[in-house]
Amino acid sequence: MQHDKVTPYTNADPKKEQVAKMFDNIAKRYDLINTILSFGTHKSWRKKCVRLLKSKQPKNILDVATGTGDFAIACAELNPTKIIGIDISEGMMELGREKIKNVGLDKLITLEYGNAETLDFPDDTFDAIVVGFGVRNFENLEKGLLNLQRILKPNGQIVILETSFPKNKFFKGIYNIGFSILTPLIGKMFSKDKKAYDYLTNSVKAFPHNENFVTILNKLNYRNTFFKGLGIGSAAIYYAEK
Ligand SMILES: C[S@@+](CC[C@H](N)C(=O)[O-])C[C@H]1O[C@@H](n2cnc3c(N)ncnc32)[C@H](O)[C@@H]1O
Repeated sequence: MQHDKVTPYTNADPKKEQVAKMFDNIAKRYDLINTILSFGTHKSWRKKCVRLLKSKQPKNILDVATGTGDFAIACAELNPTKIIGIDISEGMMELGREKIKNVGLDKLITLEYGNAETLDFPDDTFDAIVVGFGVRNFENLEKGLLNLQRILKPNGQIVILETSFPKNKFFKGIYNIGFSILTPLIGKMFSKDKKAYDYLTNSVKAFPHNENFVTILNKLNYRNTFFKGLGIGSAAIYYAEK
C-alpha cells in the first residue's frame, strides 16, 4: 500500500486527524515506549543529527513534529537564539512544554500547533529544520517536504531522523521478527491504544527508506543530500540543504 494511505484507524477521517488523535491517545506513554523499542538509543540518534548542524551554527531552528520536544531540547546545545517546535498533537506538546520547563529551556524553546504541510511561516525563515520520526506520518509527504524547503533559508539545512530497515540480510531477518511481533506486543502492553503500534509497523513497512527517500529529496531539488543508517539499520538520518 502507498505509504500516505496507511492510517492508524479504519474510519473516514483524514490521515492528519487520525494521526493527531492517535498521538493524543499515546502521549503519556510515548517517551517510555520509545525508549523500550529503540533500546534506549533514540537520544543518541538525535545527538548525531544535531552534530550535522554544528558547522553552520544555525540561530533560528524549527523542530517539525516535535511531539514531546526531545529533538528541540537536543538542538539547544547548538546555542541558537530561538527554537520553535510544531506539532498537530496538543497532547504530545503539553508533555513537551512541561519537560522543556523542567530543564529550564522555556525561554529558548516554544511549542505551537502547526501542520508541517500547511505551515505559513514566511519564505526563507529558518537556518535549520529537524524532523524526528515525523515525515512518515505526513498526509502528503512531498507537499510537506516542499513546504519545509520553502521556509528554509537558502543554504539552510534539514535533518530528518526516521525509522528504516536494515540492508544486511541477517539483521533484516532479526529485525523483521522483532518488528512484526515485538513492536505491536510491547505497544499493546504499555499503551491503551491497541491500533497505534499496528500503525507503526504498517507505516514503517510502507515508507520509502534509505536511497528511495534520498531520491525523493533530490526530485524536490534539495541539495547535498545523503543518508546514514543507524545501529543495525533500523533508523536512518537524512541530510539535505536548500
Ligand atoms: C513519533 S512522534 C515523534 C516526536 C518527536 N519528534 C521525537 O523525535 O520523538 C511523531 C509526531 O509527529 C506529529 N505529526 C504527524 N503528522 C504531522 C504533521 N503533518 N505536522 C506536524 N506534526 C505531525 C505527531 O503528532 C507526533 O507528535
